[in-house]
Amino acid sequence: MGAVKITEGVYFVGALDRERKMFDEVIPLPDGTSYNSYLIQGNEKTALIDAVDPDAIKQLFENLNTLKVKKIDYIIANHAEQDHSGGIPFLLEKYPEAQVVTNEKCAGILKELLLIPENKFIIIKEGQEISLGNKTLAFILLPWVHWPETQATFYKEEKILFTCDFFGAHIATGDIFNDKNNEEPAKRYYAEIMSPFRNNVTGNIKKVEALNPAIIAPSHGIVHLNPSKIIAYYKEWASDKIKNEVVLVYVSMHHSVKKMASHLHDALVKRGVAVSFFDLAKADVGKLAMSLVDAATIVVGAPNFLAGAHPAAASAVFLANALRPKLKFASLLISYSWAEKASEQLKAMLTNFKGELIAPVIIKGYPKEKDLKQIEALADEIAGKHKEIGLM
Ligand code: FEO
Repeated sequence: MGAVKITEGVYFVGALDRERKMFDEVIPLPDGTSYNSYLIQGNEKTALIDAVDPDAIKQLFENLNTLKVKKIDYIIANHAEQDHSGGIPFLLEKYPEAQVVTNEKCAGILKELLLIPENKFIIIKEGQEISLGNKTLAFILLPWVHWPETQATFYKEEKILFTCDFFGAHIATGDIFNDKNNEEPAKRYYAEIMSPFRNNVTGNIKKVEALNPAIIAPSHGIVHLNPSKIIAYYKEWASDKIKNEVVLVYVSMHHSVKKMASHLHDALVKRGVAVSFFDLAKADVGKLAMSLVDAATIVVGAPNFLAGAHPAAASAVFLANALRPKLKFASLLISYSWAEKASEQLKAMLTNFKGELIAPVIIKGYPKEKDLKQIEALADEIAGKHKEIGLM
């Protein structure tokens, strides 16, 4: 992807990665991703905001060459994670006069991750500014979206806010200003890395709104020419609001748990409760994470496997626990043949869950009529609880 002009002297110079299928080796990327980097040319100095993943450095260099960039004075690191910082050592080789501008915490991490020497840094504090001549860049600390050192850079004269991961999306599109299909990739991205920090997200949205940015330019996905749209999504996702929805995930080895889960699915739908239904043997973990953003309840179906929880169910519960969703209720559907330890193991993994654990349905073997009745009772209980808290 070539350089794209955003406004006078401000260019997208980043890279698209359409081939990448997984992020952090856990998150599927159905739409690929991008590593956005931005060039800001003042009449005295030139700054580059965020580098790219080291695997994509060639695209960044091609874009800088196209724009005939001979000198970079400042490489601004808004975030230390390597998909934005990994290109910095290569940039410092090509532009040896450049200084890395970032906050103290980010510099500390960059020194450890990338072995960037101390004398290459300019350390900034909250609100500090640097001048590029006719352009001014100010720095705003936005911690925990999603690492402790995250910051944004504000090009004051044109009110463009560069937010790195914050408001980003995993999508590789050459149409970088088109926000028509952005909700799903942005929610997928939010669910996977921002949702565990929703209180920090809410606080940082307020800081962003106080700046009244005309444009928000994150370092993944599209550039927001209408920032109010992505801010509204973020406010909704990070709010306390939950939906009349059950995330029902299951893994089944010999159809017993599948029958239990299907029966619960149908019973919930009959009672007016929406269900996001996932077979863990095939599920897209990103879609599961998205469903957890605003569901009221999770139910996990699992067989006992080697006298304990099935690894696929344990992995899903581990993820759900790590994402700290707003869930109010949780329950289990368990089947066993000769020993039952899965339920206690899975319950013990929900260390971050602060809601109510509804008594699980635990059965021996394939579900019989009496077992299906228990599942219907569980559906009644879930629907009743959703009613009690005003969701239906
Ligand atoms: Fe896109 Fe936290 O890195």
